[in-house]
Amino acid sequence: MDIHICQDSDSLARQAAFEFVRLANQAIASSGRFTVAFAGGSTPRKLYELLASEAFRTQVIWSNVEVFWGDERCVPPDHPDSNYRMAYEALLSKVPISPETIHRMPAEREDVARATDEYERTIRERFDLAAGEFPQFDLVLLGMGDDGHTASLFPGTAAIHEQRRLVVAHYVDKLKTNRLTLTPPVLNQGRTIYFLVSGEGKATTLKEVLQGPYEPDRYPSQIIRPESGRLIWLIDRPASQLLDVVPPEENRS
Ligand code: 6PG
Repeated sequence: MDIHICQDSDSLARQAAFEFVRLANQAIASSGRFTVAFAGGSTPRKLYELLASEAFRTQVIWSNVEVFWGDERCVPPDHPDSNYRMAYEALLSKVPISPETIHRMPAEREDVARATDEYERTIRERFDLAAGEFPQFDLVLLGMGDDGHTASLFPGTAAIHEQRRLVVAHYVDKLKTNRLTLTPPVLNQGRTIYFLVSGEGKATTLKEVLQGPYEPDRYPSQIIRPESGRLIWLIDRPASQLLDVVPPEENRS
Protein backbone atom coordinates (compact mmCIF):
# COMPACT_ATOMS: atom_id res chain seq x y z
CA MET A 1 0.00 0.00 0.00
CA ASP A 2 1.32 3.43 -1.02
CA ILE A 3 0.21 6.64 0.65
CA HIS A 4 0.68 9.88 -1.27
CA ILE A 5 -0.10 13.14 0.49
CA CYS A 6 -1.13 16.05 -1.71
CA GLN A 7 -1.29 19.66 -0.57
CA ASP A 8 -5.00 20.08 -1.25
CA SER A 9 -7.92 18.73 -3.27
CA ASP A 10 -6.73 20.43 -6.47
CA SER A 11 -3.30 18.83 -6.34
CA LEU A 12 -4.94 15.50 -5.45
CA ALA A 13 -7.08 15.74 -8.58
CA ARG A 14 -4.03 16.71 -10.64
CA GLN A 15 -1.97 13.79 -9.40
CA ALA A 16 -4.89 11.41 -10.01
CA ALA A 17 -5.29 12.81 -13.53
CA PHE A 18 -1.62 12.25 -14.33
CA GLU A 19 -1.93 8.66 -13.08
CA PHE A 20 -5.16 8.06 -15.00
CA VAL A 21 -3.47 9.13 -18.25
CA ARG A 22 -0.36 7.05 -17.52
CA LEU A 23 -2.38 3.93 -16.70
CA ALA A 24 -4.71 4.41 -19.65
CA ASN A 25 -1.84 4.70 -22.14
CA GLN A 26 -0.05 1.73 -20.54
CA ALA A 27 -3.17 -0.48 -20.72
CA ILE A 28 -4.09 0.56 -24.27
CA ALA A 29 -0.52 -0.05 -25.44
CA SER A 30 -0.49 -3.56 -23.94
CA SER A 31 -4.07 -4.77 -24.42
CA GLY A 32 -5.78 -2.30 -26.73
CA ARG A 33 -8.20 -1.07 -24.11
CA PHE A 34 -8.36 0.56 -20.65
CA THR A 35 -11.06 -0.64 -18.27
CA VAL A 36 -11.85 1.62 -15.33
CA ALA A 37 -14.40 1.49 -12.51
CA PHE A 38 -15.43 5.04 -11.61
CA ALA A 39 -15.99 6.15 -8.04
CA GLY A 40 -19.06 8.16 -7.16
CA GLY A 41 -19.65 10.82 -4.56
CA SER A 42 -18.15 14.30 -4.78
CA THR A 43 -14.36 13.87 -4.47
CA PRO A 44 -13.76 12.45 -7.97
CA ARG A 45 -15.60 15.35 -9.67
CA LYS A 46 -12.44 17.49 -9.79
CA LEU A 47 -10.53 14.58 -11.33
CA TYR A 48 -13.20 13.98 -13.97
CA GLU A 49 -13.37 17.72 -14.79
CA LEU A 50 -9.57 17.86 -15.09
CA LEU A 51 -9.54 14.84 -17.42
CA ALA A 52 -12.04 16.70 -19.62
CA SER A 53 -9.79 19.77 -19.76
CA GLU A 54 -7.55 20.58 -22.74
CA ALA A 55 -4.45 19.71 -20.71
CA PHE A 56 -5.49 16.07 -20.21
CA ARG A 57 -8.34 15.23 -22.63
CA THR A 58 -6.06 14.96 -25.65
CA GLN A 59 -3.66 12.60 -23.87
CA VAL A 60 -6.10 9.67 -23.73
CA ILE A 61 -7.40 7.58 -26.67
CA TRP A 62 -10.99 7.69 -25.38
CA SER A 63 -12.23 5.31 -28.07
CA ASN A 64 -10.22 2.59 -26.29
CA VAL A 65 -11.54 3.40 -22.81
CA GLU A 66 -14.28 1.31 -21.22
CA VAL A 67 -16.05 2.80 -18.19
CA PHE A 68 -17.92 1.02 -15.43
CA TRP A 69 -19.07 2.18 -12.00
CA GLY A 70 -18.06 0.90 -8.58
CA ASP A 71 -21.51 1.66 -7.22
CA GLU A 72 -24.69 3.57 -7.92
CA ARG A 73 -27.56 5.10 -6.08
CA CYS A 74 -31.01 3.71 -6.89
CA VAL A 75 -32.12 6.83 -8.75
CA PRO A 76 -32.67 7.68 -12.43
CA PRO A 77 -29.55 8.53 -14.45
CA ASP A 78 -30.59 12.20 -14.64
CA HIS A 79 -31.09 12.49 -10.87
CA PRO A 80 -28.76 14.92 -9.00
CA ASP A 81 -27.58 12.00 -6.79
CA SER A 82 -26.65 9.77 -9.73
CA ASN A 83 -22.96 8.82 -9.88
CA TYR A 84 -23.42 8.26 -13.60
CA ARG A 85 -24.81 11.77 -14.09
CA MET A 86 -21.90 13.33 -12.19
CA ALA A 87 -19.29 11.54 -14.31
CA TYR A 88 -21.23 12.12 -17.54
CA GLU A 89 -21.59 15.86 -16.95
CA ALA A 90 -18.00 16.32 -15.68
CA LEU A 91 -16.21 14.14 -18.25
CA LEU A 92 -17.98 11.60 -20.45
CA SER A 93 -20.09 14.15 -22.33
CA LYS A 94 -16.90 16.06 -23.18
CA VAL A 95 -14.65 13.34 -24.62
CA PRO A 96 -14.91 11.17 -27.76
CA ILE A 97 -15.77 7.96 -25.89
CA SER A 98 -18.14 5.51 -27.54
CA PRO A 99 -21.54 5.21 -25.77
CA GLU A 100 -21.21 1.42 -26.18
CA THR A 101 -18.26 1.48 -23.77
CA ILE A 102 -20.02 3.48 -21.07
CA HIS A 103 -21.58 0.84 -18.83
CA ARG A 104 -24.01 2.56 -16.48
CA MET A 105 -25.43 0.56 -13.57
CA PRO A 106 -29.23 0.31 -14.21
CA ALA A 107 -29.88 1.15 -10.56
CA GLU A 108 -33.09 3.00 -11.23
CA ARG A 109 -34.89 -0.32 -11.83
CA GLU A 110 -37.69 -1.22 -9.43
CA ASP A 111 -36.38 -4.76 -9.53
CA VAL A 112 -32.87 -4.22 -8.11
CA ALA A 113 -32.13 -7.95 -8.20
CA ARG A 114 -32.69 -7.88 -11.96
CA ALA A 115 -30.51 -4.80 -12.20
CA THR A 116 -27.61 -6.60 -10.51
CA ASP A 117 -28.07 -9.65 -12.78
CA GLU A 118 -28.02 -7.36 -15.80
CA TYR A 119 -24.87 -5.56 -14.69
CA GLU A 120 -23.16 -8.84 -13.85
CA ARG A 121 -24.02 -10.04 -17.36
CA THR A 122 -22.53 -6.87 -18.83
CA ILE A 123 -19.29 -7.35 -16.89
CA ARG A 124 -19.07 -11.05 -17.79
CA GLU A 125 -19.55 -10.26 -21.48
CA ARG A 126 -17.12 -7.34 -21.57
CA PHE A 127 -14.43 -9.28 -19.74
CA ASP A 128 -15.26 -12.58 -21.43
CA LEU A 129 -15.46 -14.32 -18.05
CA ALA A 130 -16.08 -17.99 -17.43
CA ALA A 131 -18.32 -18.99 -14.52
CA GLY A 132 -16.64 -18.20 -11.19
CA GLU A 133 -14.12 -15.78 -12.73
CA PHE A 134 -13.78 -12.16 -11.61
CA PRO A 135 -12.97 -9.19 -13.87
CA GLN A 136 -9.61 -7.48 -13.59
CA PHE A 137 -10.12 -3.73 -14.06
CA ASP A 138 -7.03 -1.82 -15.13
CA LEU A 139 -8.02 0.90 -12.69
CA VAL A 140 -10.48 0.98 -9.78
CA LEU A 141 -11.25 4.43 -8.39
CA LEU A 142 -12.68 4.53 -4.87
CA GLY A 143 -13.69 7.12 -2.33
CA MET A 144 -14.07 6.70 1.40
CA GLY A 145 -17.04 7.97 3.37
CA ASP A 146 -16.55 9.57 6.80
CA ASP A 147 -18.01 6.33 8.20
CA GLY A 148 -15.32 4.28 6.46
CA HIS A 149 -17.52 2.91 3.66
CA THR A 150 -16.24 2.55 0.14
CA ALA A 151 -18.25 2.02 -3.03
CA SER A 152 -21.55 1.06 -1.41
CA LEU A 153 -20.00 -1.31 1.10
CA PHE A 154 -21.40 0.24 4.26
CA PRO A 155 -20.55 -0.69 7.86
CA GLY A 156 -22.34 -3.74 9.17
CA THR A 157 -23.64 -4.90 5.78
CA ALA A 158 -23.31 -8.44 4.43
CA ALA A 159 -21.99 -7.06 1.13
CA ILE A 160 -18.61 -6.56 2.83
CA HIS A 161 -18.19 -10.35 2.92
CA GLU A 162 -19.72 -11.23 -0.45
CA GLN A 163 -17.31 -13.63 -2.16
CA ARG A 164 -19.34 -15.05 -5.05
CA ARG A 165 -21.32 -12.27 -6.77
CA LEU A 166 -19.77 -9.53 -8.90
CA VAL A 167 -22.53 -7.03 -8.07
CA VAL A 168 -24.98 -6.89 -5.19
CA ALA A 169 -27.95 -4.68 -4.41
CA HIS A 170 -28.78 -4.06 -0.80
CA TYR A 171 -30.85 -1.83 1.42
CA VAL A 172 -28.59 0.54 3.34
CA ASP A 173 -30.46 1.28 6.54
CA LYS A 174 -28.35 4.33 7.35
CA LEU A 175 -29.39 5.94 4.05
CA LYS A 176 -32.91 4.43 3.97
CA THR A 177 -32.33 3.45 0.36
CA ASN A 178 -31.08 0.68 -1.89
CA ARG A 179 -27.63 0.78 -3.44
CA LEU A 180 -25.87 -1.28 -6.11
CA THR A 181 -22.19 -2.03 -5.61
CA LEU A 182 -19.32 -4.03 -7.00
CA THR A 183 -18.20 -6.59 -4.45
CA PRO A 184 -14.83 -6.89 -2.66
CA PRO A 185 -13.57 -9.79 -4.85
CA VAL A 186 -14.14 -7.61 -7.93
CA LEU A 187 -12.62 -4.47 -6.43
CA ASN A 188 -9.64 -6.40 -5.06
CA GLN A 189 -8.87 -7.85 -8.50
CA GLY A 190 -8.05 -4.37 -9.77
CA ARG A 191 -4.58 -4.02 -11.32
CA THR A 192 -4.36 -0.55 -9.75
CA ILE A 193 -6.70 0.71 -7.05
CA TYR A 194 -6.75 4.39 -6.10
CA PHE A 195 -8.52 5.71 -3.05
CA LEU A 196 -9.12 9.45 -3.38
CA VAL A 197 -9.66 10.98 0.07
CA SER A 198 -9.99 14.70 0.67
CA GLY A 199 -11.01 16.97 3.53
CA GLU A 200 -10.47 17.16 7.27
CA GLY A 201 -13.85 15.49 7.83
CA LYS A 202 -12.24 12.21 6.78
CA ALA A 203 -9.15 12.52 9.06
CA THR A 204 -10.44 10.61 12.09
CA THR A 205 -11.83 7.71 10.07
CA LEU A 206 -8.79 7.62 7.81
CA LYS A 207 -6.52 7.17 10.81
CA GLU A 208 -8.62 4.20 11.96
CA VAL A 209 -8.76 2.71 8.46
CA LEU A 210 -5.05 3.03 7.78
CA GLN A 211 -3.52 2.74 11.23
CA GLY A 212 -6.16 1.12 13.43
CA PRO A 213 -7.01 -2.56 13.93
CA TYR A 214 -8.43 -4.57 11.01
CA GLU A 215 -12.20 -4.27 11.50
CA PRO A 216 -13.79 -4.27 8.01
CA ASP A 217 -17.32 -4.58 9.38
CA ARG A 218 -16.78 -1.27 11.11
CA TYR A 219 -14.51 0.27 8.43
CA PRO A 220 -15.37 -1.42 5.10
CA SER A 221 -12.61 0.45 3.26
CA GLN A 222 -10.24 -1.97 5.01
CA ILE A 223 -11.67 -4.87 2.98
CA ILE A 224 -9.81 -3.43 -0.02
CA ARG A 225 -6.61 -5.51 0.00
CA PRO A 226 -5.68 -6.33 -3.60
CA GLU A 227 -4.23 -9.78 -4.19
CA SER A 228 -1.71 -8.79 -6.82
CA GLY A 229 -2.62 -5.23 -7.79
CA ARG A 230 -1.35 -1.91 -6.47
CA LEU A 231 -3.28 0.00 -3.81
CA ILE A 232 -2.54 3.71 -3.60
CA TRP A 233 -4.14 6.14 -1.17
CA LEU A 234 -4.15 9.65 -2.61
CA ILE A 235 -4.90 11.90 0.36
CA ASP A 236 -4.86 15.63 0.81
CA ARG A 237 -3.20 17.26 3.81
CA PRO A 238 -6.43 18.01 5.72
CA ALA A 239 -7.51 14.36 5.50
CA SER A 240 -4.02 13.14 6.50
CA GLN A 241 -3.57 15.38 9.53
CA LEU A 242 -4.04 12.63 12.14
CA LEU A 243 -1.85 10.01 10.46
CA ASP A 244 1.23 9.16 12.51
CA VAL A 245 3.82 9.16 9.77
CA VAL A 246 3.10 11.54 6.95
CA PRO A 247 5.30 10.54 4.01
CA PRO A 248 7.10 13.35 2.15
CA GLU A 249 4.75 15.51 0.16
CA GLU A 250 4.32 14.39 -3.43
CA ASN A 251 3.39 17.29 -5.58
CA ARG A 252 3.52 17.42 -9.32
CA SER A 253 4.28 20.68 -10.97
C1 6PG B 1 -21.09 6.97 -3.44
C2 6PG B 1 -19.65 6.63 -3.54
C3 6PG B 1 -19.07 6.53 -2.18
C4 6PG B 1 -18.14 7.69 -2.03
C5 6PG B 1 -17.91 8.01 -0.60
C6 6PG B 1 -17.10 9.31 -0.47
O1 6PG B 1 -21.87 6.53 -4.29
O2 6PG B 1 -21.39 7.76 -2.53
O3 6PG B 1 -19.30 5.69 -4.38
O4 6PG B 1 -18.42 5.34 -1.89
O5 6PG B 1 -16.92 7.40 -2.70
O6 6PG B 1 -19.19 8.20 -0.01
O7 6PG B 1 -17.88 10.33 -1.00
P1 6PG B 1 -17.30 11.82 -1.13
O8 6PG B 1 -16.25 11.75 -2.18
O9 6PG B 1 -18.51 12.62 -1.56
O10 6PG B 1 -16.78 12.20 0.21
